[in-house]
Amino acid sequence: MEPNESTCRICGGRVRAFFDFGRQPLSDHFPTEEEVDQEFFFRLAAGMCAECTMVQLLEEVPRDRMFRYDYPYRSSGSEYMREHFRDTARRLIETELSGPDPFCVEIGSNDGVMLRTVRDAGIRHLGVEPSGAVAEVSRAKGVQVRTAFFEEATAREIVDEYGPADVVYAANTLCHIPYLDSVFRGLDVLLGPDGVFVFEDPYLGDIVEKNTFDQIYDEHFYLFTARSVETAAGRFGFELIDVERLSVHGGEVRYTLARPGRRQPDPRVAELIAEENRRGLGDPMVLEKFGTEVKRVCWDLVARLRELRDHGYYVVGYGATAKSATVLNYTGIGPDLLPCVYDTTPEKIGRMLPGSHIPIRSAEEFRTSGAHYALLFAWNHLEEVRSREAAFTEQGGRWILYVPQFRLV
Ligand code: SAH
Ligand code: TMP
Ligand code: ZN
Repeated sequence: MEPNESTCRICGGRVRAFFDFGRQPLSDHFPTEEEVDQEFFFRLAAGMCAECTMVQLLEEVPRDRMFRYDYPYRSSGSEYMREHFRDTARRLIETELSGPDPFCVEIGSNDGVMLRTVRDAGIRHLGVEPSGAVAEVSRAKGVQVRTAFFEEATAREIVDEYGPADVVYAANTLCHIPYLDSVFRGLDVLLGPDGVFVFEDPYLGDIVEKNTFDQIYDEHFYLFTARSVETAAGRFGFELIDVERLSVHGGEVRYTLARPGRRQPDPRVAELIAEENRRGLGDPMVLEKFGTEVKRVCWDLVARLRELRDHGYYVVGYGATAKSATVLNYTGIGPDLLPCVYDTTPEKIGRMLPGSHIPIRSAEEFRTSGAHYALLFAWNHLEEVRSREAAFTEQGGRWILYVPQFRLV
């Protein structure tokens, strides 16, 4: 096997790298002073399967390293996301969960942000969440959770205990799971004959269009398209019956799968696949071109940060996101160019960004930092951050975005 190749986790075909970000740490592991010399590193490279077009990482990080007891990401950390999941739950309640005694399972329920609304409607539900601390947070909200990884064995236990599910839902989680074969065997066991599997994840179409390359990190093992999902679903005994584009996290698609022949696929499925084919999203050349642009934008960012520093401006980071690991560790930007980064998540404050070891401070401290510029790693929350930190721009501060390229807003 060539060093820039791997074997497709879906079909066994040949995956060729289109971008190599090199040595990277775990994106969601924020070390303390004592932990800096024990960080785990892996090689982050993304490629596309020549057979089934599934975009995937060449190297897999063991799941127990990423999703530990103290996994720090909190879905409820943004008002926009809280609203998104409230609306999602309401829609499921009105549609797929409107029959007699419905049952809803969520894979990767995190702090219970979606299931809380399902629970409030008195609907039987179960979250499956391996990360212990977030699972406890959701239990405190009255949400039922099993602390486990969803896979075939977990699904068998659930169906034995609760019976078949009407809906299995997953947001920003299916793309985290390399072992989709086991997940689909589990879905086959768990879903009722007319049950649906609804999942939403970052969309390759948006990533290429908006150059949001930092969506590529350890946890995002797959970057889906309607075409690659349709092919994978078919292989695992399901049918793609609907797609919906979402604006969250810089652009996602919500996919609905059912057992073959049970539902009429919505015309939107064929339309989106046709659009992807027109854009060449399954074409290695298109992804190579995307890689060239990523490289240009990353090195341009370094040059601009040096320039600002050399002109005496104080530039800080905002949003200790998982995404920030990719750009920082690829370019080698560290505390000399970006002395600190601010975030609202209590679990992250007082720790450091992985690999780059840029210290994380609280959002309150941002207000007295005296920063001239703030590089926004949470670019997907631009509007919310801007209004939360309105005083920053009122005092003459400027936000810097690095996707699709360096720009001040
Ligand atoms: N659904 C939430 C959380 C996304 S973060 C949201 O959209 O905001 C991804 C979550 O998936 C983490 O909480 C992680 O612990 C969980 N996860 C990872 N692998 C999983 C698996 N095999 N089964 C269930 N959850 C998993
Ligand atoms: P995400 O992009 O993966 O959703 O992560 C967003 C991060 O940004 C998370 O650590 C919380 C943080 N954040 C702030 O610090 N301030 C804010 O106003 C918002 C919305 C998020
Ligand atoms: Zn493949």
